[in-house]
Order: sequence, then structure tokens, then C-alpha cells
Amino acid sequence: MDFALKALGLDEASALPVPALVALVGEGFRPGGDALSAFIERARARGDFKTEAGAHLVSHGVPGMHAERVLLLGIGDSAPARVKKAIGAAAGFLKSARFADVTFCFAQDTCALTLEAVVLAIRDALYLYTATKTTHSKLEPSRIEHITIGVPDLEGQSPLVLQAALTRANAVGEGIALAREWANRPANHATPTLLAKVAQALTELPRIDCEVLGPKEIAKLGMGAFLAVAQGSAQEPRFIVLRYQGADKHEAPVALVGKGITFDSGGISLKPGPEMDEMKFDMSGAASVLGAFRALAQLRPTINVVGLIPATENLPGGRAVKPGDVVQSLSGQTIEILNTDAEGRLVLCDALTYAERFKPRAVIDIATLTGACMIALGGVRSGLFANDDALAEALAAAGERALDLCWRMPLDDEYAEGLKSHFADVANVAGRPAGSVTAAKFLQRFASRWPWAHLDIAGTAWKNGPAKGATGRPVGLLVHYLLALADDLAVQRAADNPPKAAKGKKARKA
Ligand code: BES
Ligand code: MN
Ligand code: ZN
Repeated sequence: MDFALKALGLDEASALPVPALVALVGEGFRPGGDALSAFIERARARGDFKTEAGAHLVSHGVPGMHAERVLLLGIGDSAPARVKKAIGAAAGFLKSARFADVTFCFAQDTCALTLEAVVLAIRDALYLYTATKTTHSKLEPSRIEHITIGVPDLEGQSPLVLQAALTRANAVGEGIALAREWANRPANHATPTLLAKVAQALTELPRIDCEVLGPKEIAKLGMGAFLAVAQGSAQEPRFIVLRYQGADKHEAPVALVGKGITFDSGGISLKPGPEMDEMKFDMSGAASVLGAFRALAQLRPTINVVGLIPATENLPGGRAVKPGDVVQSLSGQTIEILNTDAEGRLVLCDALTYAERFKPRAVIDIATLTGACMIALGGVRSGLFANDDALAEALAAAGERALDLCWRMPLDDEYAEGLKSHFADVANVAGRPAGSVTAAKFLQRFASRWPWAHLDIAGTAWKNGPAKGATGRPVGLLVHYLLALADDLAVQRAADNPPKAAKGKKARKA
């Protein structure tokens, strides 16, 4: 699927001999003397179309227009969130398309974030899971291949800004698609070994390196908490270390740590049967890290990023870790595993400690960590926990720009009371109250040395119901955060390093 941007007035849009034209009509629409404007005005006057977000009308043979079919789509006030909703409402039209080319045109001025929302919403509508389906499913994927987005060539509009937004949207879209795809795959088609292969395949892209550790190396490092989770499974665990080097190798990286439980049965603390299949999504944090790296390689921002993924299944069995077992984490702290279903924090704590060796400027972990977070925030916002206000604000702002929202949650020390253990330095569970917060308090013990944030995506990484499947969140949030940080760092570098002093760079650093 490819997207192209072009300046397109409504008169030109009216004359386009294309199979399908989708006109995005917002409150700001002012009719001109062209056939499309006349059609919009006629439909509105007769009450068949409104500019409210999601309202739509398909017509064939519109007088004076050369497109075979025209879809009018209301986008309300043109805000990115409304446009996303509108394209979602027209998803059926796009999905069932029997033509390869479609042109979208804005009937009024637009902006970069709205354009990005259009591209991502179209990609979202056209995504189809096929990996484990055969011809027996009689899938009829959309035939759409080429998408043109027309923007009226208005005063004050910067084509460069819009082109950059399109490039960003394409990269974010590829990242989301990768995350979705791997999160959707069943656990027997997305084992720790296979996830490591996906990471290794990313090294084909520019600036990406990957190292994969197996059980022996993980044991040698001393990751006793991670290994305790892995020991009940016949699938070998993998610890995946991805590196994106976009800046000088001495610059401190951001570390992204993704929970990679390829299947979470709960272990000996077995989960109830109904809906247990959904626990194949328990590697969505890992998938979002893979997706973010995919986007980084395409956008090549000037920043360094490390991706850490502890990948394993969590299964019961004769070798499985048992409630009451005490294990020693990489940090040296001992942990009493009171509930083997609280496994995410066990694999993450060792990865957080491992992150230390990169002297990161910030560490962000992403995890489908608690059912409690799903109860607290539902599928709208991810839970955001942070020991640093600037980091929390930057992530929240990135989420707003990406339409990939999160909400800050508290980390008062009182929440850690329940984690006290009689037999180890810390227990892996507290009581039921504030379950997402006590989980975050557990992680915080392993991440106190740098600005750290934790995104609990249990409610946002996938949807159930008729559109059951992975969402690819929070790839958008992560990429927007990293891009904004790269811009900030560029400003800082320029300030530290005025052009005249460029030659003295080495001396200054020492
Ligand atoms: N992967 C689950 C969290 C989860 C549950 C995500 C439901 C999405 C939907 C996690 O490993 C887990 O089992 N957490 C437990 C923690 C509890 C034992 C303290 C939970 O949330 O019930
Ligand atoms: Mn669990
Ligand atoms: Zn889990």
C-alpha cells in the first residue's frame, strides 16, 4: 500500500477520472463553483449528508464529476481524533473495495496531525490478519493499493510539513502493523525464538543491531527472576537486545523494555479457562518495541535507542516455579513469588536492571501488566507511571499527538506496603486494591537510578468483541516521544556546540 500527497483543489478533484474519490468535508468547508462543491451543497440541503464526523454518503454518476464513485465523509471540526473516527465509519467502504486506486481530498485546509490521522486510520481499516488462515477462509482482502491524498493548495500551507507528516505516518503505520501482526499470532506461531527472529530480521534495516541471549547466557548473567518464569515451559526463553544508533555512539540512549510473555497461562497459579486464549497477546509490549524500531529505521532520527525484550511462556508443569518460591533477581534482591501469575514484573525487573549497563537517559517499560489497569482505564488510555515529571509529561504529550492516549497514575510509597515479604526482600504481589499501582511499585524498585516510566497497556493493546485483535498500541506514542526527544537533543547539541567550536568537540566532551 502506498500513499502519495498532492495539491488538489476542489475543481481539480471534480475533474479526476478515478475509480473512487473520498471527500473529507468538515465544518470549515466553503463551497466553490465546482461540481464537487455543488454536490456537497445539494446533499446537505436535502438532508442526506452532514459534516459531522462519521456521516457519509456514497454516490455514482455525480453530475459534472469524473470519478466513478464519490464518498462524502463528514469530519466535524477536522481535529485528528474526529478524522480518525470518520475514517473508521467508512472502513466498510474501504475494506470491500474492488478497485486499486482511491483518492482522498480535503474539502478545506488541513494540518500535519490531521493528515497523519487519515493515513493511520486508512491503514487501520485495511489491516487484515491472514498469517494462520488458508484459502478455506475465503478472505477477500481489499484491492486498494494506491492512495492519493489531495490537499487544497491554500495560502500559508507548508507542503514540506505535510510531506514530513506523511513520511512519519507511513513509518508509524509500518511499526503498528508489525506490532499488531505479531501480537495477533497465536502463541505456537509466536514463540520466544520466533520473536527473536523478528528482531534479528530488523537488522536488515539501517542503523539497527540485535543480540539474542539464550537460557545459558541468561542464567550466567544471573537473571533469576526471568528464568523462574521460563522454567515451566518447553520453549526456550530469549533475551533480545536491539540497538538503534542514530546519534554519536557516546550519546546516552533511551531504553525501551517490552514484556514478552508469548503465552500467559498464569503458571501454577493457573488462570480460569474462559478467554485464556487472549493471553497470547501478553507479548504486546515486546511487539510495540519491535514496531517502534521498525519505525525508527525508516525515519532515522538522531537519537540512540536500546530495546530490551525478555521473552518466555508462563506455563505450569513439573519444573514450573511454585507459589512461595524465592528467587534472586539480577539486581541481587530476592523475590518471594506468591503468585506465579504476576510473572510480567518478574521478567521486567531483570530487564530493567540489565538496562543499567547502557547508562540510559530514560527507561520506559511497556507491558500488558495487570487486569487491574484494564478495570481502571479500560481500552481508552494506557496507564502511565513515572518517577520523573518531565518524562511523564513528554510521554503524555506524545500520546496526545499520536492519538494513543495514556493517563498518569500515582506511585506513593504507601502503595508498596503490601509487597513486604516474610521470606524475601520483596513479594511479587500485594492485595487486590490498586493492583496496577502495586505492580508499578514493584518495578520501581528496579528502576530508581534513572528517569523511568512504565506503560501498563493491558487494556489498550487489544480489543475483544467483533473486531477482536491487537491494536498496535502504543507504537504511535513511543515513536512520537522519540522523535520529539530527538528534536530537543538536536537543539541542545547546537547550543552546546556552536559551529565555530565544532572542532573542539572532542576536547569539550573530555
Ligand atoms: N498478563 C496479565 C495481565 C492481564 C490480565 C492483561 C488480563 C490483560 C488482561 C498478568 O500477567 C497477570 O496475570 N496479572 C495478574 C496480577 C495479579 C496476579 C496480581 C492480574 O492482573 O490478575
Ligand atoms: Mn500473569
Ligand atoms: Zn502476563
